[in-house]
Amino acid sequence: MTETSLPSVLVTRRLAPGVLERLTPSCDVTLHDDDLPMPRPELLRAVAGKAAVVTTLDDLVDAEFLDAAGPGLRLVANHAVGTHNVDLAACAERGVRVSNTPGVLSEATADMAWALLLAATRRLGEGERWLRSGRPWAWAPNFLLGMELSGTPLGILGMGRIGRAVARRAAAFGMPVGYHNRTRPAEVAEDGPRWLPLDELLERSQVLVVTCPLNAATRHLLDADRLARLPAGAVVVSMTAGVVDEEALAAALDSGALFAAAVDNFEREPEVPAALLAQERAVLAPHLGSSTVRTRQAMGGLAVDNVLAVLAGAAPLTPVQAVRS
Ligand code: DGY
Repeated sequence: MTETSLPSVLVTRRLAPGVLERLTPSCDVTLHDDDLPMPRPELLRAVAGKAAVVTTLDDLVDAEFLDAAGPGLRLVANHAVGTHNVDLAACAERGVRVSNTPGVLSEATADMAWALLLAATRRLGEGERWLRSGRPWAWAPNFLLGMELSGTPLGILGMGRIGRAVARRAAAFGMPVGYHNRTRPAEVAEDGPRWLPLDELLERSQVLVVTCPLNAATRHLLDADRLARLPAGAVVVSMTAGVVDEEALAAALDSGALFAAAVDNFEREPEVPAALLAQERAVLAPHLGSSTVRTRQAMGGLAVDNVLAVLAGAAPLTPVQAVRS
């Protein structure tokens, strides 16, 4: 087989160590060898004639993208569990399959949710900024007092794999857990976290972790009215962009209604709303939920395995179903 007869694959971002090597023996790979996204015109040029493309959440896969790719495109392998960058209906119309990377990032993302939860409740960001600024400080009974977790009710919005991994960790902190989810997952033990209607969950959660996927039903689900249902001095940890209204969150921090908040990803990345940047009590992370070597290798590996499966004529290992409206 000559090199040119290999199926051509576009990879829109530098992959974790060891991942690309699994693709190169059997594919003609065009790699955007960078950690920043491809500029749109470059992306549209590069995808032309490809059989498969490994995308990230920053790559908008819409009709324009699919037209630029042409009729040979068989798979969009999103290097993420989320697929809000992909127009699933447009892909389905053209017979282009879509895969994502579920399962492999749940533990790392739950760890990050807890890192942010602890940083927000114990005011770590403020403390660090204080020291680095050189401001005078001394141990004092009232200095940077935080919220204690033991016995504090934890609410989880979204009880998928990540939500359940967050809940498992809560036991170690002695936090009673309630959750809201469209369905009651079979994996949640009868005597485990308690399902509650959304408004009741909000009213009972001193700490709320948001892990539900972003879709038409969850976009801005936590708007100003819903945030106002949380108990006074609650803490919100947002692990899914777009579910919590960022302006409303900043306003709730500003008014003192919330004790603190933590946000791991943002609606218009890489833009971070100025209103949030201005809040001392906001812990802000640049979308780090899945950022461990092991998890990024697993995500990349799964994206690549999906490509290899489809190019070999099989179904994707982790297909995403097109949403029918
Ligand atoms: C995803 O996969 O959707 C995450 O946001 C990446 O960390």
